[in-house]
Amino acid sequence: MKTKLKILRQASVESEPEWKTYKLQVEPEERLLDALLKIRRNVEPELAFRSNCKSGQCGADAMNINGQPRLACRTLFKDLANPKQVTIRPLDGYRVLKDLVVDLKEVEQLGGEIIEKSVDKLTSPKRTNSEIREAASCNLCGACVPACPVTWNNNLFPGPAALLKSYRLLGILSHEDKNRQLENINRNWGLWGCETDYNCLEVCPREINVTELISRLKREISSGEERCSKVE
Ligand code: SF4
Ligand code: FES
Repeated sequence: MKTKLKILRQASVESEPEWKTYKLQVEPEERLLDALLKIRRNVEPELAFRSNCKSGQCGADAMNINGQPRLACRTLFKDLANPKQVTIRPLDGYRVLKDLVVDLKEVEQLGGEIIEKSVDKLTSPKRTNSEIREAASCNLCGACVPACPVTWNNNLFPGPAALLKSYRLLGILSHEDKNRQLENINRNWGLWGCETDYNCLEVCPREINVTELISRLKREISSGEERCSKVE
C-alpha cells in the first residue's frame, strides 16, 4: 500500500514549524513507528522522535496521529481511518524541542511541586496493591494532557498525569508532605478543574482508569478523608 505521511517538522525550539510530506510503501499491519524509522533510515536522518521499548510500555513515542494523541508503536496503518494519508505532529500543548520531540518536563511542572517517592517503596494502608500498581504504571508519556479539554483553555490546570501522581502519593505520604501535596492540588483550577470528560482514559496507552482515580481523590477530599482547606 502506498501512503503519504505528512509530518510537522521543526528544526529547533526557536524555529518555525513546517509540514513535510513523505511517500512510502507500507504494509497494513505495519506500525507507524516502523514507518518513521524507515523515513529516518532511508530519507531523512535528521527526523527527530523518541522511541524506546517499541512495545507500548515506555510511552516515549506518544505523538499526535491523525488528530489523536497515540503511541506510534501501537498504531497500525490498518487501524487508521485513512491509512493512505496520515498526519503526524507533536503532542499539542507542549514546547517542541525538535520535530516530534516535546518537552515532557511540563507534565510535572503543570502540577506544581509534586513530591516523589520511589515506586518500589509504595505501600499504603488506604490503597490496595492493585490500585497502587495501576496508578504507578503511568509512564508519564504525556498523551492524556493534550487530550483533556480543560488543559486547552487553562494552563494552570495540572492535567490528568499530575493528578494521577497525586492520587498515588497521597496514600503514602507523611502528614507534612501530604498537606503540601494537597495544597498543590486542592484548588478550583487544580483537582476541582477536572470535568470528568474521560478523554484521558481513552488515550492512555497503559489503560489506566485515570478519570476514576481522580474522581476517587475528589471523593476522599470531599468526605474529609484527606483534609486541607480549599484555595480559590
Ligand atoms: S496517565 Fe496514561 S496517558 Fe497519562 S501520562 Fe500516564 S500513561 Fe500517559
Ligand atoms: S516506544 Fe515505548 S511505548 Fe512506544
